[in-house]
Amino acid sequence: MSVCLPETFYIRTFGCQMNEHDSERIAGMLVGMGMQPVEQPGAADLLLYNTCSIREKADTRLLGHLGEARRLKREQPERMVVVAGCLAQSRRESFQQEQPHVDILLGPQSLHELPRLIEERLESGRSAGAFAEETTRFSAELPRARRQGPLAWVQIMTGCTNYCSYCIVPYVRGPEASRAAEDILAEVRGLAEQGVHEITLLGQNVNAYGAEPGFRGKGDFSGLLRRLSEETPIERIRFMTSHPKDVSPGLIEALAELEPLCEHLHLPVQSGSDRVLEAMRRGYTSADYRALVERLRAAVPDLSLTTDVIVGFPGETEKDFAATLELVETVGYDSAFTFIYSPRTGTRAAAFADAVPADVANDRMTRLVAAVQRSALERNQAYVGREAVVLVEGPSRNRESEFTGRTRTFKTVNFAVPHKAEAAPPPSESFEPGSSLGSASAANGGAADVSVGDFARVLIEGATSATLRGRLLGAARADRAA
Ligand code: SAH
Ligand code: SF4
Ligand code: F3S
Repeated sequence: MSVCLPETFYIRTFGCQMNEHDSERIAGMLVGMGMQPVEQPGAADLLLYNTCSIREKADTRLLGHLGEARRLKREQPERMVVVAGCLAQSRRESFQQEQPHVDILLGPQSLHELPRLIEERLESGRSAGAFAEETTRFSAELPRARRQGPLAWVQIMTGCTNYCSYCIVPYVRGPEASRAAEDILAEVRGLAEQGVHEITLLGQNVNAYGAEPGFRGKGDFSGLLRRLSEETPIERIRFMTSHPKDVSPGLIEALAELEPLCEHLHLPVQSGSDRVLEAMRRGYTSADYRALVERLRAAVPDLSLTTDVIVGFPGETEKDFAATLELVETVGYDSAFTFIYSPRTGTRAAAFADAVPADVANDRMTRLVAAVQRSALERNQAYVGREAVVLVEGPSRNRESEFTGRTRTFKTVNFAVPHKAEAAPPPSESFEPGSSLGSASAANGGAADVSVGDFARVLIEGATSATLRGRLLGAARADRAA
């Protein structure tokens, strides 16, 4: 029987940056099969949801989208529905029974199986799934379809073997596995040739790079950073996520010394209470964390620090929470992701007694968010009146006439571009992947033009807890000022 492949596909991505990266690889495979991406689910022959299972909310959100997929499939029964990613891995066949309109389930270590599963599904008519338990092929080895632009994700490792008691990631992403440095270097060189100026190295625990038993490459994370700095032309390097217990003296030295390494570290603390940290199995105390921050700040004085915090972990008392608030206030974060604890089936903490009532957890969350915002605002206000170097990423989200980009310290800066009368073309209306936004000239003779992908000098004139606002001064030559 000859079967027709779907002609168009729609991808919706949930979860962390690793999933965003994986979706670029999934899109690359589908394009390789001859399909075209579309922006609207109703226009697609194949609907793919790349899922997250980190908290219950993530699961519920997906169910809403699957309702839409069911409706669309009813309209056009040959439409194919694929659920990929962490939720597919955690729920496996039971999910297919609950959601019979799902044709293919694909765990995050099995992405390369997608073309085969699509063909099998078309030929046999039966639904299919693939759920490898560990990484035998990095998604980074698959073809990629990414939005053109100056930023790119680079996968350096997958999985996690830390088993923090609340976390589902080790169960769905498998044990830590690191990519060979040569492959990473080759990918980064290729990206630089395509006009990428900033890379974010991805892994659940990047600073454990190369530490797993059986790693066939050599070198640790700071060694990799050194090689990337010395052997590629990339201007900015970021990485996430770092685990506090694995921040080595070598990494601190690298942050202080290596020019391309940005002055920003995402360092999840989770709690300020030693009792809670122990129950979470984080492997450090509050004092260890504070001492680490002091060492980091001594080595990199303008370091921007961001974090993740969980409130309402089982057994968390008001005193434990007060310790978290105090830590957040003392460290002075530039921003933080804050979460209410959500029990995940199969994790150790799911069996813990002393659940914190929802109203208590909500109240703690409100107080925590207020503390984070105070600290973020204070840190951002320190930029006002200063000049910053911004890598221009595109039009700003709210105002088409403005650009947006980030400083090395990960601050989002929106800035207006004064139009040079008549001479400069207006910024284009829509931002097509691959297009440049059109250049805009600075006022007063236009000493410099900036386009997407350029480094710009911006005078910071205002700050909120979330963003900075500024005015273009001109193009930046060196990317060290911010
Ligand atoms: N690998 C990274 C991040 C993993 S998930 C790390 O170790 O830091 C991102 C964040 O989600 C975690 O840092 C944690 O704050 C939060 N998180 C994970 N599991 C959670 C759960 N069960 N309930 C609430 N928040 C959770
Ligand atoms: Fe989850 Fe902990 Fe691993 Fe992060 S380090 S992914 S929180 S188990
Ligand atoms: Fe979610 Fe999986 Fe990332 S559970 S946070 S998509 S590793």
